[in-house]
Formats: sequence, structure tokens, C-alpha cells
Amino acid sequence: MNAIELIEKKKYGGTFTEEEIRSFVKEYVDGNLPDYQMSALLMAIYFQGMSHEETDFLTQAVIDSGETIDLSAIEGKIADKHSTGGVGDTTTLTLGPILSACGLPIAKMSGRGLGHTGGTLDKLESIPGFSVELSVEEIIKKANDNGIVIAGQSANITPADKKLYALRDTTGTVDSIPLIAASIMSKKLAIASDILLLDVKVGEGAFMKDEASAKELAEELVRIGESFGRRTMAMLTSMEQPLGLAVGNALEVIEAIETLKGNGPEDLEYLSVYLAAKILEMAGEGTFEEMEKKAYSVIESGEALKKFAILVENQGGDSAVIEDYNLFPQSQYKKEIKAEKAGYFSALPAREIGILARDLGAGRKKMDDVLDMGAGVLLNKKIGDKVEKGDVLATLFGNDEKVVQEQEKVFLSFIEIQEEKVEKPQLILSEVNHNV
Ligand code: URA
Ligand code: CA
Repeated sequence: MNAIELIEKKKYGGTFTEEEIRSFVKEYVDGNLPDYQMSALLMAIYFQGMSHEETDFLTQAVIDSGETIDLSAIEGKIADKHSTGGVGDTTTLTLGPILSACGLPIAKMSGRGLGHTGGTLDKLESIPGFSVELSVEEIIKKANDNGIVIAGQSANITPADKKLYALRDTTGTVDSIPLIAASIMSKKLAIASDILLLDVKVGEGAFMKDEASAKELAEELVRIGESFGRRTMAMLTSMEQPLGLAVGNALEVIEAIETLKGNGPEDLEYLSVYLAAKILEMAGEGTFEEMEKKAYSVIESGEALKKFAILVENQGGDSAVIEDYNLFPQSQYKKEIKAEKAGYFSALPAREIGILARDLGAGRKKMDDVLDMGAGVLLNKKIGDKVEKGDVLATLFGNDEKVVQEQEKVFLSFIEIQEEKVEKPQLILSEVNHNV
């Protein structure tokens, strides 16, 4: 492989062969292709794009750089869900038990959070005793025995993506649709499943800021999934504001439990039920409307909550937390933030709330940062809500008193309250389904 020739080829709009793509991925992982040449190549791809075929070749080359996980020993159809970087997005914790209660086995491999977005594994670890470190054999066994398991990945999947993503992050080449699509789909396709539902976040808190570019990404994700033989669908959902009311690890687990008890915030409950119904529909269990009813019914009957308790117990956690929230880690300091004027809540930017929660201790700046499980933000109001002067808008939780005090000003600096009535934003914007 001649790296300069490849860079020049893409720079002038050429199309790579499968051989060329395999070769630069392999040489980069092996350390034979230096960062500066890979950076130039990524920048050329950023400007010239890649064809569908090139994107598929890249996806396959990244999958082939590491191990793959075979879950076919799990009985029944296996569904997977992926959401692209939400703030306060607790849906994995509600969706898993809902689907499992509807009879679909859930074996979900999740990740940790970085920056302004949270990770499902971190949230689960706020439950005392809960272990996310399971072998593939344990995952399969638990899925078959209990119908639900949520764990981390012990296998070395897609090492090429880890290295490429880190480089893209420092060279301004993250926001290229073929590169994002190959990155996300290589990780999803390396883990076997029958059905894949992608929740592509749109808006201020997401890395696709507008609906048109999010749609373009969603189309490409679905196209790749289907071309690799996986039943794939994408939803475009709004991330103009955090999902639900809680942003933080223990805070979000409590919110998920409340949702499974039928007392959850409207948007979180609605999205959880919606995603569950879509997945059940894709699994051939019935129509969307039937499945929507079924999803609501397992919340109402307490079956979904029971599945959550089974999940917790089977992974070493203390399921008494479900009835006693004081058993969760608590932050030492809290601060209520009150409205300085009356009106309607008009801005609650998700990204800023995510960063604020991170700075309170709920998230990481670097991958080895230690989390404060009790920290975060509990919102009382969302966009469109009426606010009276002096109403509590939110409560901040953290273990560093000074930071908790300081963040009040930060919170008040980015929210907006206006006099005119504000419409509640639409949560589910559209869907991408190539198989209708
Ligand atoms: N998330 C990913 O996994 N990869 C990207 O390239 C961007 C977001
Ligand atoms: Ca939430």
C-alpha cells in the first residue's frame, strides 16, 4: 500500500477498492500507517465522501479488525437498540424490562458515558452490588434463564474503530456521515442480533444538529444494516432538551424505576413504549398499535417492573432499591434553583445540561475519571411548562459544595423563560424504514 497514492486518490474524488480500504485499516491498526497520513486520508474522505460500497467495505474492515460476538445460542429473536448520544436518555433501562415482559429476550451490551452523554453501564453500577462484567457464556445463559441481561463488552470488538475515532476526535473529522455510519454500524454488526432499532438524536444536544443531516445519517445506518442482512430501522427523536427529568446515574435509575411503576415523565414513558412497540412489530409479534397497547399493559400490570427486579438480582444487585431509593448512593450537597421570573420555559439545552451534570460529578472528562453516582440534575420543568416566579426549576446534586453552588449561575445562564406561551416540542420526528 502506498499511503500517499491513497490520500491523493481520495483528495481528487476517486473511489477506493475493497482491497485498498482493508489495507489502510489494517496498516493503521498495526501501527504501520502513521497518524499524520491517516489524518490526511480521513480529511480527504470528509471532503470527498464515500460511496455506499466504500462505506460497506470500511464497515466490514473495521468489524474484521477485532472479535465478533455470537449470541445465536439465545432462544428467540434477539433485538438490539442503539441511541446516538442522548442526555438523560434512560430508555435502555425501561425498554429492556418492557420488551422482556412482552416475551422478547433482551441481551444488551452497553457502554460507558463520556463527555455530556451518560452510559447505561454507569447508571446500572449505581445500584449497589450490580455487576456489568459478564462473559459471553454468562450473557447467553442469563438471557435464556431470565429473559433479560445488560452487560459490558469483555471481547475486543472493533479495535480499528477505537483508534480511528480517537484520531477523528482530534482532527476535526468526526462529522462525516460515511465515517460515523461505518463507526456505529461496525460496533452494532460485530454483535449478533436479528433486529436493530437505531434512535438517532436530533438537535442541540446531539451531534446531528438538524433534522436533514440526522435523516441522512439514519438513511445510511439503515442501508448498511439491511445490506449486512440485519432487519434495521431508525427513529429520529428530538434532543432539544434532556429526555425525562433526571440526568445523572442513580437519578436516572430511579427515574427508570418510576417509569416502570407507571409514574414516569411523559416523554420518557412515551419514547420507551414507542421504541418497544417498534421492536416488537419488527420481531413480527403484531401491529404497532397492538404492541403499543401491550407495552403499556406490562407497565400497568407490574410485569415490566418485575423484570427489572430480576435483572438486578441476577447481576448481583440489591433489588430492595426498587422500593427504597435511599439505598442508592446519595450526594452530600443539593441546591434548588428557583425561577427569577414568571413565564413559559422556552430553552433547556440538552448539551449544556449534560455538561453541567458531568461537572457535578455524574460524567467523565477522561475515560478514567471516577463518577459520583448520586450527582446530577433533577428537572422540575420542561420546555412549554408554565413557570411562576420562585418555582423550583431544578435541583442540583453533588459532593463538591463549591461546584454545586457555582452551577446554579451556569444553569440560569443557559435556560430561558419567556412571556409568550411556548409549544411543547415534538419528541418523535420521523422514521427510516427501508423494508415497507
Ligand atoms: N458515535 C460513534 O460511535 N461513532 C462516531 O463516529 C460518532 C458517534
Ligand atoms: Ca432522564
